[in-house]
Amino acid sequence: MAEVNLIKFYPRSNKPVETRATVNNLDLEIARKFGKDYFDGDRRHGYGGYYYHPRFWTETVSYLRDYYKLSENASILDVGCGKGFMLHDFKLLMPQATIAGIDISEYAYENAMADVKPYIKVGNTKTLPFPNKSFDLVTAINTVHNLPLDKCKQAIREIQRVSRLNAFIVVDAWRNDEERERHFKWVVTCLTAMHVNDWKDLFKEVGYTGDYYWTFS
Ligand SMILES: C[S@@+](CC[C@H](N)C(=O)[O-])C[C@H]1O[C@@H](n2cnc3c(N)ncnc32)[C@H](O)[C@@H]1O
Repeated sequence: MAEVNLIKFYPRSNKPVETRATVNNLDLEIARKFGKDYFDGDRRHGYGGYYYHPRFWTETVSYLRDYYKLSENASILDVGCGKGFMLHDFKLLMPQATIAGIDISEYAYENAMADVKPYIKVGNTKTLPFPNKSFDLVTAINTVHNLPLDKCKQAIREIQRVSRLNAFIVVDAWRNDEERERHFKWVVTCLTAMHVNDWKDLFKEVGYTGDYYWTFS
């Protein structure tokens, strides 16, 4: 289990926090449906447009492959895969790999990239529909923190269960009061966020042995 930044090429929002600070409870309710409004609607409800951009994803998957020394025919699951951007780039980089994705969003599934859509299931990460030790690598980037604490723990146990070798989780976290404050100004869907040390304790508590990194506000 290691803290390692494997997402240094991952897309980052450059919108000012103050923009998001104006959201109200109705906006949060809309965002949490993970529908069109969240992905491709107004910025108040989420991404404000969730688009594929090779500049971010290509470098990220290449980095993951090298870090985990994945073989050409490795099996990879992306939990909370959205429209399948990362799976698409894994398939480009490693055409013989077995890929799978799961996401709670029907909208994301309907609008997933055509080449990876057949490998994506709509479902909830708290019960992954795969046998034990199915995948060489399981990723969950900014996904499990969208569940309340008990379900979040369950989701991490599920990731551990279906991973044969490696797992990499990214969650919202803070290291100090300033980041904590910024997190609560920014958040629209996250239900479980905490100090990095508390996350580390949680990972131990649930028996997670994979790697992890943080999204800081
Ligand atoms: C912040 S987005 C991240 C998407 C993608 N991993 C990425 O990095 O671009 C969070 C994703 O988690 C999905 N999600 C939220 N709750 C979920 C759940 N309980 N089970 C599965 N997916 C979930 C959302 O639909 C959304 O696609």
